Amino acid sequence: MASKTPSDKDRVVIFDTTLRDGEQCPGATMTHEEKLEVAELLDDMGVDIIEAGFPIASEGDFAAVHEIAKRSKNAVICGLSRAGAKDIDRCAEAIRPAKRNRIHTFISTSPVHMKYKLQKEPHEVYEMVIGQVARARKHTDDVEWSAEDGTRTEHDFLCRCVEAAINAGATTINIPDTVGYTVPEEYFALIDMLRTRVPNSDKARFSTHCHNDLGLAVANSLAGVKAGARQIECTINGIGERAGNAALEEIVMALKVRNDVLPYWTGIEATMLTRASKLVSAATSFPVQYNKAIVGRNAFAHESGIHQDGMLKNAQTYEIMTPESVGVKQTSLVMGKHSGRHAFVHKLEELGYQLAGNQLEDAFVRFKALADRKKQIYDEDIEALVDEEIATAHDRVKIVSLTVIAGTMGPQTATLTLDIDGKHVTTQSTGNGPVDAIFNAIHALVPHEAVLELYQVHAVTEGTDAQAEVSVRLSESGRSVTARGADPDTLVASAKAYLGALNKLMSRRNKASAAERRIHSQDVG
Ligand code: KIV
Ligand code: ZN
Repeated sequence: MASKTPSDKDRVVIFDTTLRDGEQCPGATMTHEEKLEVAELLDDMGVDIIEAGFPIASEGDFAAVHEIAKRSKNAVICGLSRAGAKDIDRCAEAIRPAKRNRIHTFISTSPVHMKYKLQKEPHEVYEMVIGQVARARKHTDDVEWSAEDGTRTEHDFLCRCVEAAINAGATTINIPDTVGYTVPEEYFALIDMLRTRVPNSDKARFSTHCHNDLGLAVANSLAGVKAGARQIECTINGIGERAGNAALEEIVMALKVRNDVLPYWTGIEATMLTRASKLVSAATSFPVQYNKAIVGRNAFAHESGIHQDGMLKNAQTYEIMTPESVGVKQTSLVMGKHSGRHAFVHKLEELGYQLAGNQLEDAFVRFKALADRKKQIYDEDIEALVDEEIATAHDRVKIVSLTVIAGTMGPQTATLTLDIDGKHVTTQSTGNGPVDAIFNAIHALVPHEAVLELYQVHAVTEGTDAQAEVSVRLSESGRSVTARGADPDTLVASAKAYLGALNKLMSRRNKASAAERRIHSQDVG
């Protein structure tokens, strides 16, 4: 879709509050060093304003804002403060070393907040607005004023407060949806109403600050931009109070991908979004939801056979942006029960296998059977499966079915059916434990003199549904063979490994007797 040439009037300023609103949510605390690292990345990524903390809140917050201000490169470093003089002065002190700094000062304006939280009358709040902005302006030219709970504020009062704040020197007016209550149409109308009704509205930049309690934070922010706001307050991964804030990565990519209907732009280097997401997730120990837009681990993963098939033909069939555009190396075709033959062959090629004909058919059938039992199929699972397929292609003895009774009640019993040279034979054996019962059953169906020298189990991948890989070494007449068997069921893997070793012994026996016959016929001839 063709997009317009970016113009200054369509530039949306990104105000990141990961280190303030994000960090203040339960469980997301970061250490001093982690905050510095996050701030550095945000700066490098092109964030316009970094809200680095709430300096009056604690010595730690002050120190972090102060240090971030010292180290800042291009971003404006901002600190938050309530309306009190001490708050504002402390904030000013913290941000002072920054090349460019901002004081963000706020007060509640909604009836419920004024009555219960502030216990103040509207006229008192109105006076505080003027006082807080004027005080902040003594420290810096860049002052942002926020009407906390703005979306639940009575319109006439909000207009008066905004006008007063601008008159007192505020250069940015932020209208927070503090409780995540608004919807896009309503938020659009609110910003539009303020810009139309407030006489000096053209003297300030309007800003959105939307919380995600109804999952509408990004949609509301974009609606605010459509109504004329040119700053969006947001956080990496959308972290923040309760359900969080508008997610920075979603805002940036919505504006990029749908520039045809959202003709605005930001200065963010989108290829750094994934790195930022990972860093914030690691620093806060807040996992990113798997299906999170843009940065979730499934955002560029495809499992269904139909989707994988489409992706292999043309990525645009199921991807509206490239993984590279947000810093992800490549699309991943996740192998699972929905994957089709096309994707399976593609995965085999990626892993360096070239199977054809019956071998490919058998491997695919076994992959499907495994996928039915195991949630996620990793590359290692496929390798184990294919290695076994290749190794057992010419086996004379194959497992058909196995049922084992195990547990405290004993005796452990194995009922085993084998395919021996195309004929099915069944037996039942007991043993000292389930593995012993299985090996006894194999012995009964395939009598042999081989001695078990090694029996070893390990997990191919992680998790309780991981495939077990069993190694068995058998020796017979001074010859040893080792075989492996893999299966999510350790007992089935054990049977496969034992049979694998027996098959190898039989094949060696056959080769040896063929050689003997050749020698014998030469002697006779
Ligand atoms: O959500 C909110 O209202 C805030 C303000 C302090 C801006 O975070
Ligand atoms: Zn907030």
